[in-house]
Parts: sequence; structure tokens; C-alpha cells
Amino acid sequence: MDYPLVVGNWKMNLEFGEAMILSGQVARNSEFIKHIEIVIAPPSVFIYPIFERLKIKPNNFHLALQNISTDISGEFTGEVSPAMIKKVCDYTIIGHSERRRLFHETDEDVNLKVKNALKFGLKIIVCIGEAEKFHLEDHYAVEVKRMLKPGGIVAQAKLALKNVNKSDYPKISIAYEPLWAIGTGNASTGSYAAAIAYILRNELVAEFGPAAKDIRILYGGSVNVGDAKEFVLQPNIDGLLVGGASLKIKDFTEICRITSELKSGMPTED
Ligand code: PGA
Repeated sequence: MDYPLVVGNWKMNLEFGEAMILSGQVARNSEFIKHIEIVIAPPSVFIYPIFERLKIKPNNFHLALQNISTDISGEFTGEVSPAMIKKVCDYTIIGHSERRRLFHETDEDVNLKVKNALKFGLKIIVCIGEAEKFHLEDHYAVEVKRMLKPGGIVAQAKLALKNVNKSDYPKISIAYEPLWAIGTGNASTGSYAAAIAYILRNELVAEFGPAAKDIRILYGGSVNVGDAKEFVLQPNIDGLLVGGASLKIKDFTEICRITSELKSGMPTED
């Protein structure tokens, strides 16, 4: 497995000047935070200017698109294809719950996007999540069944990766983001996220074989400086997808530093 990953999803926030400043700060700080990959996903219109401005950037700093087309080119007003951004982005987010909820993306769309992005050499962060909290402590078997049913988180992950080459697994991260935790300030707990990541890992290995151990599992949903530690301490959690806190340079840098130190056991350089 590659290094742990911390992804900052800026969503539809910031103006041009702010985006240029923040991206420069994240890139500069990434130089001093080793042993992790740091990714920012600005709005697509800012990607190219950011790329141009940061021609020389640390190897562990990457740009991601927040969404990608199912297609390569054609009559798809408003869409961006992997062919268009492969030279400037290393990653793309796919199937974020806001895309599924507000833009009606289905598991089938997500699977098409996954295959299209991988075909162009992009690394992908596929989001899955449940709307209603699981009650694993009282109803473990029933809740695991709920995860496997159509629409359940395990079913979402399996459909996203359907017919994907095993050799691409190291390029894939599954971001587990419970919907009730996104943007609410009400993050999950480390033990809850760890239990889900454990089930997910086992189900992926059962479905796709031992190569699925190369797939990273991230946690996302109201991650902040105070709670990042409890998620990254979990062995099956390989990184974080951060929304709101990724817009504040101090907080995002600290979350990256915590992840680096706890996952590698090595102090950050000054
Ligand atoms: P949040 O967003 O950290 O603001 O909850 C996470 C996400 O939606 O990816």
C-alpha cells in the first residue's frame, strides 16, 4: 500500500485569489510533511491556473478534480473529461454524496466514471456512505446485512469497482463518509469508523480477492484538528477526506501533520 492520503475537498468555495493563495500555502507546507500524500480538490475552474503557478511542487502534493465525466468528449454540456485534465491532475473524487444526492448520480454512473478515470491514468477517491447511522453494538449482523443490500455502503463500493482491473487497485481509495457526519460538525467516532472500515476491508477482499488489500480506505465527515487523531489511529483507515477544515490552512496543515506522524511514527520536519 502507498502512503496514507489526506484529501482537501474545497467543494464550491473560495474566489480565484483566495484559491491561489491557499493552494500555494498547502504546496509549501507539504514539503515539510513527509510519509503522506496530500491532495487538494479545488473547483475545476481553478485547477489549471493553480497547476501553472505551482510548476515546481513537492512530490507528495497533488491536485484532484471534484468530479469527472463518464465520457471522453462530446455533447455533455458542463462536464470535464479525464482526457482534458490528466496532465494537470493526478486524482479525481468520484461519487461524492453531494453528487449522488443533488445531481442524481447512480452507482452505475460511479462505476463508469471510475473506469473512465482509471483508463486515463488518474487515481481515484470513490465516496460511499449511509444516510442513517448503523447500530453495530446492538444489531451487528442485521446492520452488516443492511450494508450489503442495494444502496448499502458495501454494495456501493462493490458496484463502483465492478470490472476494474486488479492492477488498478493501488490507485483506488474508498472514502467512507457517513452522510449524517458531512458538514454537520458531528463527526463519527474513531471506533465507529474503524468498525465500518474493518467490515469494508473484509467484504472487498471476499469479493475481489487479496489484491483488494491495496485499496486505501479513508474516513470523511466533519474531520477537524481535534478528532483527526482518533480516525488515523485506526489500522484500517489509511487517510482522511476533509471538507470544511481544508479551507483553513492552519487546520489542514495540522491534520496532515497529525496523519503523517501517527501513521509513520516519525516526527514532522521543521
Ligand atoms: P466536511 O466535508 O469535512 O465539511 O464534513 C467532507 C466531505 O464532504 O468530503
